[in-house]
Amino acid sequence: MDNLVTLQYKYVISEIADLRWKDLDKSDLTAVATAYYYFSVQFRENLLIAVAMFPDDEKLQHLKAEECGTANLSPWPGVAEPAERMNHDEFMRRTLLLSTLPLEATKMAEQAGHAYLQKSRGYTQDARARSIASYEDGGLEATFRAMLTAPEWDDPALEAFRHFLAEHIRFDSDPEQGHGALSRHLQPDDRVLPMWEDFRDLLICAVPRLAAGVRYAAA
Ligand SMILES: [Fe+2]
Ligand SMILES: [Fe+2]
Repeated sequence: MDNLVTLQYKYVISEIADLRWKDLDKSDLTAVATAYYYFSVQFRENLLIAVAMFPDDEKLQHLKAEECGTANLSPWPGVAEPAERMNHDEFMRRTLLLSTLPLEATKMAEQAGHAYLQKSRGYTQDARARSIASYEDGGLEATFRAMLTAPEWDDPALEAFRHFLAEHIRFDSDPEQGHGALSRHLQPDDRVLPMWEDFRDLLICAVPRLAAGVRYAAA
């Protein structure tokens, strides 16, 4: 029966992948990167919750070492020195500082990001831990591949964001040591659904054009 059960959160992943990524200009994409920064903070928080729940879990320790205090995105111009270690959300924070666009372009994303982060901290520890597997085992890969179809990346912040996305597709997808393989045993189910809905809504709030003409089930 298992293969007949469709998890709702996977549907939301498809909705995100189907947003109008190809229609974004540089300003929109910078707003996406800004929204993603807030996602990346909750990602780290959720991962640390999972590690605290299962302190003897070697796979999760390995995953933590690849996401926190790591040099696996270094070097990158203006963001990371050669071999410099940092959390991945810190890489994103520094990435945004490189933007050449006026600050107004990302204001909505920042406001939405703050609200998103507050809400994300209200979910149960169990759901937050499970979310990591849903992110790492294909969920983020699908959304990152869709984001990479945006046409304009000619900006220092966007080039750094593109590096982040492309490297993450590589990190997550290795069948043995990939982040999917390291977290799958957390067994995501629809307890993670609201977190995916929040991520979708955050992106659309940051860049309403993403959903223009797209029908999606609002939370
Ligand atoms: Fe990461
Ligand atoms: Fe990862």
